[in-house]
Amino acid sequence: MRITSRNAVLAASLSIVIALPAIAHIERGEPLQSLRQSFFAIVGMTFGPMGDMVKGKIEWDGATFAAWADDLAAVSQVSVERGFAPGSDKGKTRAKPAIWENPDDFAEKLANFRREAAALAVAANSGDKSAAIAQFKQTGGTCKACHDNYKSRGYLYE
Ligand code: HEC
Repeated sequence: MRITSRNAVLAASLSIVIALPAIAHIERGEPLQSLRQSFFAIVGMTFGPMGDMVKGKIEWDGATFAAWADDLAAVSQVSVERGFAPGSDKGKTRAKPAIWENPDDFAEKLANFRREAAALAVAANSGDKSAAIAQFKQTGGTCKACHDNYKSRGYLYE
């Protein structure tokens, strides 16, 4: 029941993201790029506020942190792989060609992220703040591990 209502909230916030920034993330001619960028935008917009809480920029609230961690774990399961289909290594994107040259390694880095995000939800719901913070950092390491090799700072190809 709890999970169902949270999914409803997630679905609602996803539809807001889709409805509002047609300019930022939805390129009609580039649906795959838009799909993966929207996925990572939600990942970033969930992980970012968690980082603000870890750093003390906003007041720590364990229940909110746990709710965001649940969202992150749920979102991480979306099949973003389809957004990296062959031939989508072009257009308005920061996704480096190395992704399509090293599909197994890229898949492993995605799997690492999903595993650590799931562990973060568990840690965040445990009520142990220091365990939650340690696992937050562990999860952040999986973002960096992928970005270091596969995400460019600026847009490629234009
Ligand atoms: C398996 C690889 C991988 C992992 C893991 C990963 N990212 Fe990314 N991320 C990418 C790639 C590739 C792009 C560029 C996509 C594009 O421009 O087409 C990206 C783009 C982004 C963007 C920009 C989205 C936009 O608006 O276009 C943000 C923000 C982001 N990632 C945050 C994160 C955070 C935070 C995490 C971890 C919690 C994370 N990513 C984990 C590969 C990854």
